[in-house]
Formats: sequence, structure tokens, C-alpha cells
Amino acid sequence: MKTAEIVTTVEALRARVADWRRDGRRVGLVPTMGALHDGHLSLVAATQSHADRTVVSIFVNPAQFAPHEDFDRYPRTLQADAGKLGDTADLIFAPSVAEIYPEGFATRLEVWGPAAGLETDFRPHFFSGVATVVAKLLIAAMPDVAIFGEKDYQQLLVIRRLTADLGLPIEILGAPIVREADGLALSSRNAYLSAEERVVAGRLNLILRDVATRLKHGDPVAIAEQFGRSDLLEAGFNSVDYVAVRDAGTLQPVSDPSRPARILAAAKIGATRLIDNLAV
Ligand code: PAF
Repeated sequence: MKTAEIVTTVEALRARVADWRRDGRRVGLVPTMGALHDGHLSLVAATQSHADRTVVSIFVNPAQFAPHEDFDRYPRTLQADAGKLGDTADLIFAPSVAEIYPEGFATRLEVWGPAAGLETDFRPHFFSGVATVVAKLLIAAMPDVAIFGEKDYQQLLVIRRLTADLGLPIEILGAPIVREADGLALSSRNAYLSAEERVVAGRLNLILRDVATRLKHGDPVAIAEQFGRSDLLEAGFNSVDYVAVRDAGTLQPVSDPSRPARILAAAKIGATRLIDNLAV
């Protein structure tokens, strides 16, 4: 099967995008860290209804990992990723670390607003690392549209904020979470789970559904969140970072989820940290 061309430099990326623009094409970007699964492929498919040409970036971004996190063992599978994309992508941008962060690089973006709390309470380095690399990728490709999965819901809002604040003329779209049959959200990190951990992992989404049901039946937010936390521990998660019901647009705490809200959770099984979220 035909696979997309792989370029590794910003210069080559810009040259290909400039060719498409000369032909009047709309360009879409799907930023990823590789180890592609059906969730990523759904982002590529979604891009195709908003753009004529699709670039997939594959870059394991050191700036969004803390020293104790899994940067070194994060799967790097470029050839397999290119095979999975087949001809659904027009170009793969797979830069080296030095291409994105050349010698002397000394800039880091800080986003407030939706970046406050939740992930930031447990991974304080994370969103500035994501914001820095996503800004670089957007500025390098200058697409008309870029698409991100709703599994990383807080990340999606942070990227929307960043794009608006920097005045980048790029539409940021979110795409629905793709799940396994038992409800587990697809994630490259699911590959770390042992067979027993994988069974426990499937409970995360079901427990978020229970939290949603409790809210629907009138349980106060704090009580529903507390049940979510204790149900996760009972199901076999060894720690729970948060189960939180937040305003879907701002991620501010809500006391009464009558406005669109989102239940967000992060919990660990063994050494693997999983996140998920659900609209209510
Ligand atoms: O969601 C991811 O895979 C990453 O955080 C992203 C947006 C590609 C930035 O490295």
C-alpha cells in the first residue's frame, strides 16, 4: 500500500505545504506522539472532511515529560505508524528533538485559564511542554485546521486558548474519544498494561458513567465525585489523582451540573496512569 512521504525538517514541511497552498488546497494537521492507534486514525479521518491535504506530525515531545515519567520507554514506531496511516495522510512530519529544540532553545509557553488544576496539580510541567510544542508545530505547518482528541479534554481546551491568545488563524477541532468494547479509551499508554491491569482499566469509563447517573439522579457533585474515587480504588486502581465534575467550557468547578459539564478522571494502575472524561 502507498504510504505518505516522511519529512523531518520544518523547511521541507513548509515547502510541501506551500505547494498545496499554491494549488488552493486547505491543509489539516494532526499532531501526535506516534504509536498510532484507531483513536489517531479517527482524527486523520475527521480531518479529511475539513481539509484537502492532511499532515500527521509524529514527535515524542521531551518538554511534556517530567524526569521521572516515561519519555525513554514511550513507544517509537515510525515505520509501523506510516504503515497504519497508509495513504490516508499526505505527509508525515517526524522531526528530531534537535529540529524542534535546537541548541540554545530557551522559550517555554505558559497557559493559564483552562490549564489550572486537574492535570496541572499532578503534572505541573505538562501543559507548558504541550503548549510549547503545539505552538511550534502550528507555526511550522500553518494549517487551516488542527484536530485533537477529546480524550485529553483539558489539553484540547488549553490548545484552543493558546491558539486564540497567540492570534493564530487556525481552527482547532476536537474529535470524540474512541473506545474499546468495554469502554476503555484508546491510548498509546494502554500498551503498558498487564492482562490483569487491562481488565481493571476497563472499569474507569463505567465508573465515570455511574458518576454521571448519580448526578442525573440529583446527588450533589461532591458526593458523586467521592463515590467515583472510592469505586476506582475498589475496582483495583492503586491511586486516584482526581474525579472532578467541571464546567465543559472553562473547567471551573460546578456545584450544579445544569450547564454542559464534563466529568474528568485520572487514576493509576501499577505504574500506568490513565485519564478519561465524559460529557454530562
Ligand atoms: O496528545 C498528544 O499526543 C500530545 O500531547 C501532543 C498534542 C501531540 C503534543 O505533543
